Amino acid sequence: MQQSRETWGSKAGFILAAAGSAIGLGNIWKFPYIAGENGGASFVLIYLICIAVIGLPVLIAEILIGRTTQRNPVGAFYKLSNSKFWAAVGGMGVVAGFLILSFYAIIAGWSIGYIIEAINGNFFNFPEPASSAEHFQNLVGNIPWIMGYFAFFMILTMVIVFSGIQKGIERASKIMMPLLFILLIILMIRGLTLDGASQGLDFLWNPDWSKITANTILLALGHAFFTLSLGMGAMLTYGSYMSEKDSIPVAALQIVILDTLIALIAGTAIFTSVFAVGLAPDAGPGLIFQTLPVVFSKMPGGYFFSILFFISLTIAALTSSISLLEVVVSFFVDELKWKRHTAAIVISVFIFALGVPSALSFNLLNDIKIFGFDFFELADFIASNILLPLGGLFIAVFVAWIWGYDKVIPNLRKGAENFFDNYPLLSSLWKIFLKYLSPVLIFLVFLYSIGLLEKIFNVFS
Ligand code: PFF
Repeated sequence: MQQSRETWGSKAGFILAAAGSAIGLGNIWKFPYIAGENGGASFVLIYLICIAVIGLPVLIAEILIGRTTQRNPVGAFYKLSNSKFWAAVGGMGVVAGFLILSFYAIIAGWSIGYIIEAINGNFFNFPEPASSAEHFQNLVGNIPWIMGYFAFFMILTMVIVFSGIQKGIERASKIMMPLLFILLIILMIRGLTLDGASQGLDFLWNPDWSKITANTILLALGHAFFTLSLGMGAMLTYGSYMSEKDSIPVAALQIVILDTLIALIAGTAIFTSVFAVGLAPDAGPGLIFQTLPVVFSKMPGGYFFSILFFISLTIAALTSSISLLEVVVSFFVDELKWKRHTAAIVISVFIFALGVPSALSFNLLNDIKIFGFDFFELADFIASNILLPLGGLFIAVFVAWIWGYDKVIPNLRKGAENFFDNYPLLSSLWKIFLKYLSPVLIFLVFLYSIGLLEKIFNVFS
């Protein structure tokens, strides 16, 4: 049926593409600002625990579903369960991919716009954060600016996915990921060699236990999902092009290590610089677009480093956005038998259309609020706080309870025989975490999101 389904050209190709999906705006834009708002090192510590005890087990489960079935999320769940309910769970992932890309590409568009700002030397007119914030507001308030870069980024994403797995996604990841590593390491060295860098390091590495609250834990867990691209079938889809000769646990471990390393490198680069020039770490979502330009304007070599930084951010976003689009495209190709080329173009146009209200929520539709959210925040909230955790919960429950370990383990052993024989303890831990710990903890995060919703509804009732 699926005779000519594509595959990755090499093991390294899969790892780089999957790490590319994981490493994105989540690592460079979101992680530093939520760490900055939530006590720095204390947040980082909880986040690392969440990655290890929930992120890694769910990641293994997702890749395994994909590799075993060689299908998109809907086809994969249906093939294993023969149930419409579980196919709908896969469908939820496809919808989440569609929705996330519609706002993700807007921020990624800003990043491209900021490369141009950096090249034009526009960051050197900012004596203090307020003028940088004003500049940012002017840019996002400018409809042609925001729409133009949004469209441009969607076209880049579309072209790569259009070109296929090996020629598009794998090739792009193999070029862009090493470049991203090099750029971020250069930026980290710049940060570390500034006078006063040690304060930034303290902030990122010395936990203050009193700052840890239930909220920190829930935020950290939510972010663990987002940063590892879990809960919506992106890793499942990438896993569906993977060979049975390769080890899933080893690949998953490599992906998690790369993703975490990049978040920490980006965090180090950003906080050493922010503290060195005496700015606050808790500026929120504007940290990258409003605070950093001021940092660059005060730092030796800032012109050069500002260009490198926004190039890195764009690369990171692009290797993630292609995985979001691929989830939706693979569904249309596998299930509805569309041609890849047609699917890539048509779906990108629809995603752009869906993103238009979100882009306009920074300007024209500023005042329109639905349940207290503007369009952009609403799309982000539905996807990140509802669809992803719910998807993650279903994936853990499906693999551990429905598919069943008697069928799961022989599949997981393929390509990983040595791993299982050498580390029996790790495989037992995986089974226990996935069966009990992950569902319970994810469920709590989900309740928390619903609690937030409830609060919002109360305001309206
Ligand atoms: N992991 C990406 C990031 O950290 O930016 C975001 C993402 C990509 C989430 C792909 C979900 C996904 F399917």
